[in-house]
Amino acid sequence: MSKTTLGVCYYPEHWPETQWRDDVNLMREIGIEQVRIGEFSWSRIEPSPDEFSWAWLDRAIETIHTAGIRIILGTPTATPPKWLVDRFPDILAVDKNGRKRAFGSRRHYCFSSETYAREAERIVSAMTERYGKHQNVIAWQTDNEYGCHDTVRSYSPSACNAFREWLRRKYVSVDKLNSAWGTVFWSQEYRDFGEVDFPNLTVTEANPSHKLDFFRFSSDQVVAFNRRQTEIIRHNSPGRPIYHNAMGFFFDFDHFDLCKDLDGIYWDSYPLGFLDGSSAPIEVKQRYMRQGHPDFAGFHHDLYRGCGNGRWGVMEQQPGPVNWAAHNPAPLPGMGRLWAAEARAHGADAVNFFRWRQAPFAQEQMHAGLLRPDNTKAQAFAEANSTAKLFSNSLANIHTDQLGDVAILFDYQAFWLYEAQPQCAEWDYSDIVFRWYTAVRRHGLNIDFVAPGSDLSAYSVVIVPSLPVISDETVEALADTSAQIVVGARSGSKTTALNIPRNCAPGPLSDMLGLKIIMSETFPPFHIENGVLNGDPFNGTLWLDHVETALPPLIQSKTGHGLVFQNGRFTYVTTVPDEESCQNLISFVMNALPKQKAYPLPKDLRMRRCGKNYILFNYGPEPAAVPNEITHLGPLVYGENPIPAADFAIIADEHG
Ligand code: GAL
Repeated sequence: MSKTTLGVCYYPEHWPETQWRDDVNLMREIGIEQVRIGEFSWSRIEPSPDEFSWAWLDRAIETIHTAGIRIILGTPTATPPKWLVDRFPDILAVDKNGRKRAFGSRRHYCFSSETYAREAERIVSAMTERYGKHQNVIAWQTDNEYGCHDTVRSYSPSACNAFREWLRRKYVSVDKLNSAWGTVFWSQEYRDFGEVDFPNLTVTEANPSHKLDFFRFSSDQVVAFNRRQTEIIRHNSPGRPIYHNAMGFFFDFDHFDLCKDLDGIYWDSYPLGFLDGSSAPIEVKQRYMRQGHPDFAGFHHDLYRGCGNGRWGVMEQQPGPVNWAAHNPAPLPGMGRLWAAEARAHGADAVNFFRWRQAPFAQEQMHAGLLRPDNTKAQAFAEANSTAKLFSNSLANIHTDQLGDVAILFDYQAFWLYEAQPQCAEWDYSDIVFRWYTAVRRHGLNIDFVAPGSDLSAYSVVIVPSLPVISDETVEALADTSAQIVVGARSGSKTTALNIPRNCAPGPLSDMLGLKIIMSETFPPFHIENGVLNGDPFNGTLWLDHVETALPPLIQSKTGHGLVFQNGRFTYVTTVPDEESCQNLISFVMNALPKQKAYPLPKDLRMRRCGKNYILFNYGPEPAAVPNEITHLGPLVYGENPIPAADFAIIADEHG
């Protein structure tokens, strides 16, 4: 049975040393078992070139150790110090408008700078040589939030050289590149890899295949940069797992790829900041302003559990108002505890609150912590304490490691491909995936995210929200399962080179789906294709495929367009259904599966089945009653029904 550890992010370098002992003792007192430290500390570790100042960090680590708190140590490479930037200005990244990124915040380095990669290796070697075998350093975090502040893609001279090399390795001959990209169009042909530039600053749109390759290259550069660190850490710190802290709604690099060099992945959960910055409708933003969208946290828990192959956690948990969103409300009292409990239910290894004490200075001085700057207790302090109790009592013995009921096939490259060729301004791959996720979760089902090509045989339903490039492995995996498969528009519509397949869309899926797409049109958001499914509405938005097929449409719009077709266990959706329509289609698919029990949930409740326990979370601003179908399963073993706002309850299934 898994366990979830409670932790906190701590910055000893921000506080007088006289404060440290009281800090760690108080942490211990409220049940905090681990801290993440060090990830921005380069200027304190190496104040001048090759002059290391370890004494303070030695003492900080010892103080933490003495209190019996374990340490996740961060490599400090997200913040190269001033002297380093001045000494090697070529380490700076360049943005897509050709402007050099400046010193004075963070993440200013370019992933392709060989100088920076060597400097990163140097500091990581020094740090891991010193602390790699310390008994209390139990894990590592590489860098901090790769890609934050739009930094995956750099347009620097080093990136240009590296991109050309990457293309040379991929295509070997420039003729192959010309043919893959179709450069005969508009006289874009190249005679040599050395002639290829970035796909930015072009007069009108750049070649989409060129863009896609640049996005792939940029993702590979992140993975390669990370790998150089993990190799050193593994050598100098044997047996300690290595993680990275990923972000919410961030897709610029392939996290499945990154995880091949890690032991798992953590993510930073700021539900209120994410909702404020999202494209959710105003009513949703209003209703969930202090709780976050009911599916934001779950979506990422499930996605990163998939990327990390089951090893994942929350490296940073929002404690109160943040500083970085356009608006920064406070969570409803109880939400910190609810978010932590939900992470536990999804199988997190740990939840670390961010941060121990609010800093009175610099960029994040308006960001809450567990303590206020004057050391008094902020809202989340008591919640962290009650989370510790939950983790060791009521939530200690739950099973979190079973396979999901439904798999969602998720592809980072799809995100980049649609960015390179949107065809509809509002087309948003992450929105589409999220909509299907919500639809399934509103049925009370557990979801796993899987990478294309993964084995699908254990699932009863597989959703392919939209997968433009279909590999042979994906075709095989779809053939080798008996699951119901729901396939969204644009799937199979492109080759790897971002060309139209020889047999047109859906390319390799045409036999399975029993149709061919003869035209795709896209609409502004005001145009809806209205259809009906079993008396319920089914509305198509943004996209419409016109198909040639012998199949009768399962759903047809009032204007006579086929919106959904079924060929045996394959269901193809020619459009982007709105949220309610996704839910109606999922109900329809689930009803056809007598063995798979779905439990439709009211809008504010979400549920996670953990072995025999059904854990229900109330995201609404008022109490919510558990549906009878669920209360009939067995006794309420934790919490109350109706579930108060910002709280959760557990029903034990007596028969399950
Ligand atoms: C995260 C980051 C932290 C801190 C935090 C504030 O994105 O990793 O260093 O900036 O946001 O919410």
